[in-house]
Amino acid sequence: MQRLMETTAAWLAARPEEACQRAAAAMRVEREQRTIEPVASETASRDLAAMVARPEGELLEAFAAAMPSFAWREPPQKDVGNYLVGRSAGNVIIGPEGMFPSQDLRFGAFMISPHTVYPLHAHAAKELYIVIGGSGRWWIADTPYAPRGVGDVVHIPSWTPHAIRTGDEPVLTLWVWMGDVSFDAYRFEPAGFDAKGEPI
Ligand SMILES: [Fe+2]
Repeated sequence: MQRLMETTAAWLAARPEEACQRAAAAMRVEREQRTIEPVASETASRDLAAMVARPEGELLEAFAAAMPSFAWREPPQKDVGNYLVGRSAGNVIIGPEGMFPSQDLRFGAFMISPHTVYPLHAHAAKELYIVIGGSGRWWIADTPYAPRGVGDVVHIPSWTPHAIRTGDEPVLTLWVWMGDVSFDAYRFEPAGFDAKGEPI
């Protein structure tokens, strides 16, 4: 787990964007470590099997090494489950309920199965997604779905509506939330979009 955090922080620190620099510094803060029992995810095991069997790139390698220790869970946000249960999995490594407690930072992994839509939602926290496996398309504010693949960083400013769709392959990301990381400051707002995540 330590390797995944250190590798991610170093990767972010090497990026020119200010948000990446800030995330790297926040990740490097010394924190206590508590014991969290691993929880397997059938969805993640199934959809990520091919990419973790032959991990390419330092981030995916570090992810694959840490995967047996993850406490995967279904999305905790209200209403999102209708779209994502059995079609996504996430975990929190740094965060209020994570292995490394923090009240102003969340860091973890998040994957979405093929042919899935995570409809429009917004939150107070500033977010970074780093794509480390597969690919997906992100809708951000008024900008329609744009493809993102391995090595891309997706920036989501505070309270900016965003949605994610996948095609034939899953997408695996590392994600960071900074600022108000409470799920109370999270709005799910799929109105205006159909079940495939396309605008009505
Ligand atoms: Fe988000």
